Amino acid sequence: MTLTPLVVDVDTGVDDAMALALAARLEGHELVAVTTVAGNVPLEYTTPNTLKVLEWVGSPAPVYRGMSAPLARPLVSAGHVHGDDGIGGWELPDPSTGTGDMTAPEAIIRLAREHAGNIDFAFVGPLTNLAVAVLLEPELPRMVSHLAIMGGAFFKPGNVTADAEFNIYVDPEAAALVADAGFNATWVGLDVTHQTVLDRDTWASLADADARDAVLVREVCRASFEKRGVEQVHLHDPLAVVVVERPSLIDGIPGEISVDVGAHRRGRTRVSPHVNGTGQAAQSVKVAEFQALFRGLLEG
Ligand code: RIB
Ligand code: CA
Repeated sequence: MTLTPLVVDVDTGVDDAMALALAARLEGHELVAVTTVAGNVPLEYTTPNTLKVLEWVGSPAPVYRGMSAPLARPLVSAGHVHGDDGIGGWELPDPSTGTGDMTAPEAIIRLAREHAGNIDFAFVGPLTNLAVAVLLEPELPRMVSHLAIMGGAFFKPGNVTADAEFNIYVDPEAAALVADAGFNATWVGLDVTHQTVLDRDTWASLADADARDAVLVREVCRASFEKRGVEQVHLHDPLAVVVVERPSLIDGIPGEISVDVGAHRRGRTRVSPHVNGTGQAAQSVKVAEFQALFRGLLEG
């Protein structure tokens, strides 16, 4: 079976780490590169976190370092959720490899040109790298088969403000540029990712697990359950990655996607179904099907 090349862009991050483990295991895709961006924590953490996680899951995918700040604003990070190091304090060995010899936007463009018409993208952090890549190569949207974005809150409230989800809030200018660029994009927002969770009981059931993916999930989520005392960890990024392989997991509302960049409604995302557009906003998700896929990861 011919595998479809996949590029994943991350701000590793607790759920990004789990998304990378899933991306490395997809049966219909080959993870050909991972690009890093500032988001949950600064780039000087998201990049080594990504190298460490890929080494832990045994993925040979090269990593390319991206933008260290949003296009037009100071970075807003989320260390209070992901830990100051970005992966919940899980101590992994220093990576034995470094990043590739080009920037993330350059790598995105090079791979899109190399696999034009047969390459998928999953972006699960602020969209800064993708916006820069589009500015460098305006034809990029027509080279990419399917783009899954973890971002937005179209029908439900945001998680930073009442309007805005974190990835979009951090760099609304980048998100607006991507929304207008013409990608065949599925926006996987909080509307569906708030339904896909790792609950405390499932996490506790991993206590004696020794499969590497299960250990990863247990250890990156440990601080969330033991220190922050949450009852569930949202699997935002893992859902977006799986949607690339299983688009039928979600039902979307097609139309024009818009992003507010003004101070008043910064990061608000809307879909206008009566307006022709190339995107869709996920409105519902087959939760049981996703949870079964995620459980498969845990069971190795
Ligand atoms: O709002 C959730 C998103 O913001 C996820 O991608 C999480 O990793 C953070 O980046
Ligand atoms: Ca993320």
